[in-house]
Amino acid sequence: MIIEGLVTSVDAEGRVNLAPMGPIVRGDFESLVLRPFQPSTTFNNLSSVRCGVFHVVDHVDVIASAAIGRLTELPEMEPAKSIQGFVLKNCCRWFEFTVDSVDSSNMRSEMPSTIVHRGERRPFVGFNRAKHAVLEAAILATRLHLISSDEVQTALNFLEPAVQKTGDAQEQQSFRMLQDFIARSGRVES
Ligand SMILES: Cc1cc2nc3c(=O)[nH]c(=O)nc-3n(C[C@H](O)[C@H](O)[C@H](O)COP(=O)(O)O)c2cc1C
Repeated sequence: MIIEGLVTSVDAEGRVNLAPMGPIVRGDFESLVLRPFQPSTTFNNLSSVRCGVFHVVDHVDVIASAAIGRLTELPEMEPAKSIQGFVLKNCCRWFEFTVDSVDSSNMRSEMPSTIVHRGERRPFVGFNRAKHAVLEAAILATRLHLISSDEVQTALNFLEPAVQKTGDAQEQQSFRMLQDFIARSGRVES
């Protein structure tokens, strides 16, 4: 199963990077396969430093902002327990992993990884259609080079009512930010 969340990774100098990622999760987080595209900072960091932290989250504003490079400051973090890396203070669960191998033969690399430590901060809030809609819009915003304008517009039109009907201010603001980003990219009519 693919679980969407946030990955922190560090470069050789220890500088932290935060990016939304959807690894393949085996069993109850028995292992992960990270699949960062090349080029990306996550790919560079994980392939050189060979460890990171995957976070299960239920706040989509950070996912939306990080996806389009609009994160003005990194959220609060603390050092990971078992690897060189950082854990978000605001997350539901976290999984510290080491990268077993790197297959970079395709643009979308594959990195089977072992979970070496896990922790839980608070329960998952529950399913919310607006949060899922923001997640989908954030994925669209990172794939504008792969998807036609019509498909993007159709998807945004489909997602918007769920945000209006079921979201709070945070989801509505994140969705508007993504709509604005996509419109400015010139891919759809604003
Ligand atoms: C929910 C979600 C899941 C994503 N999953 C992946 C993924 O598995 N692999 C990937 O390369 N990019 C994925 N992306 C896109 C990256 O987050 C995006 O390209 C980001 O800019 C990469 O940042 P980086 O260069 O800091 O690593 C995902 C985006 C979202 C919103």
